[in-house]
Amino acid sequence: MRSLEGRVAIVTGASRGQGEAEARLLAQAGAAVLVCDVLQAEGEALVQSLEADGHEARFLALDVSSKDAWADAIAAVRGWKGRLDVLINNAGIINRKSLNDTPLEAWERLIGINLTGTFLGIQAAAPLMRESGCGSIVNISSNSAFSGHYDPAYTASKWGVRGLTRTAAMEYVGWGIRVNSVCPGLIVTGLNADAPHLKPMIELTPMKRSGTPEEVARLVLFLASEESSFITGEDFLIDGGFTSGAAYRRVAVESGLYES
Ligand SMILES: NC(=O)c1ccc[n+]([C@@H]2O[C@H](COP(=O)([O-])OP(=O)(O)OC[C@H]3O[C@@H](n4cnc5c(N)ncnc54)[C@H](O)[C@@H]3O)[C@@H](O)[C@H]2O)c1
Repeated sequence: MRSLEGRVAIVTGASRGQGEAEARLLAQAGAAVLVCDVLQAEGEALVQSLEADGHEARFLALDVSSKDAWADAIAAVRGWKGRLDVLINNAGIINRKSLNDTPLEAWERLIGINLTGTFLGIQAAAPLMRESGCGSIVNISSNSAFSGHYDPAYTASKWGVRGLTRTAAMEYVGWGIRVNSVCPGLIVTGLNADAPHLKPMIELTPMKRSGTPEEVARLVLFLASEESSFITGEDFLIDGGFTSGAAYRRVAVESGLYES
């Protein structure tokens, strides 16, 4: 249960959704958690709630697309705890626009947060993790990074996160840092609660439901902790079977091979 006792973690995009669930679970596992987000009020409320439960946490306003803001975040964690063991690059946005309808500014903003933000986070955090003696970085990608998808900027960013994860894992293995990515399917959060694709996604998902932020957080905790000590450079799908063969499964159902 206390697999992160004495550890220090940064979670980005932690004010709500999956990041909030990850911050909560890491804190419950014993980590001191720096809750980072552009949403200040929600992040501060989360920290208060964690502290009320006896956990150690702080909020820091961090726009992950800013190199200077990352330098401030690493300085803050160094001043607070003097070490860093875990980085969860979770912050992300979606465009939900077709390629024809994606303006350059929207493309660049999304890539700046989802992909460049992950790059900047890894680059800023790795030296302090090296000093700390070990580290685990978990980058949140998506199951849309295993196929084509209807949001070109989002999909390109999440494929990029997978490539960056493997590359960083190879570079930092000598520093004792493991780097893995988590690739969720549909998880209903503030990112998509009002989206028109929820119903067809759930119907196509073999488990016939969306996942929960807590289910994703459990996988993130496993990768953040020493429970996964021999795993680096890997992608972990968590999508109710969607990527395993949802299209073929539908074919099997529609052709009468499976009952439902
Ligand atoms: N919800 C899903 O179905 C799903 C599926 C696959 C992957 N993901 C990924 O999971 C991650 C978390 O998404 P979520 O579903 O919890 O969404 P969410 O919108 O609830 O949470 C995202 C958080 O990121 C923060 N954020 C946005 N821009 C930021 C920036 N520039 N700097 C710092 N923080 C910023 C937001 O304020 C928010 O708190 C994202 O990377 C998302 O792409 C989500």
